[in-house]
Amino acid sequence: MNSLTINANSPVSTRRIGEAVGKALGSGDVVLLAGPLGAGKTTLTQGLALGLGITESVMSPTFVLMRELKGRLPLYHLDLYRLENLPEISDLGLDDYFYGDGVTVVEWADRAGVLLPEEHLRVDLEYAGNRSRSLCFTARGERYEQLLTGLAARFEAKS
Ligand SMILES: Nc1ncnc2c1ncn2[C@@H]1O[C@H](COP(=O)(O)OP(=O)(O)OP(=O)(O)O)[C@@H](O)[C@H]1O
Ligand SMILES: [Mg+2]
Repeated sequence: MNSLTINANSPVSTRRIGEAVGKALGSGDVVLLAGPLGAGKTTLTQGLALGLGITESVMSPTFVLMRELKGRLPLYHLDLYRLENLPEISDLGLDDYFYGDGVTVVEWADRAGVLLPEEHLRVDLEYAGNRSRSLCFTARGERYEQLLTGLAARFEAKS
């Protein structure tokens, strides 16, 4: 399966979906997040962190660009919002995260354009009401397609 849309009707629901994804993540996995301000990218990341067994609180790393959190695997949480151009993003050395042993989650991932790895799990978050968000997952690569199939079994047709 290479795409799946799940509706989350509250931040708790978004975290729960993230937690299920986080539990399925493994070493070297990359999750790219897109969607407007306040769509829930950090909230989803809080769930991913829970699923990775991280107990530290997850805040938006907007002003530090990257935070490393320690769980079952390291979580590299990046936020590219403030970065305007590709050379600036290139300086971050993203490949060290993407091809490292941990899990990489990138908010505002589209800012990195061609620097992004071909294989990844992408989530487009959209407003669907005051406390409702639609989470559109896209899998690029077999590994992530399998992950989505597992997620669908759990969340499809539920909110
Ligand atoms: N269903 C929902 N899922 C996630 N967040 C929700 C939901 N409903 C309401 N919210 C609220 O929307 C806000 C989402 O904020 P969050 O920081 O996760 O967004 P973001 O996409 O990371 O924003 P930014 O682009 O500024 O980093 C929070 O205040 C949260 O409580
Ligand atoms: Mg955020």
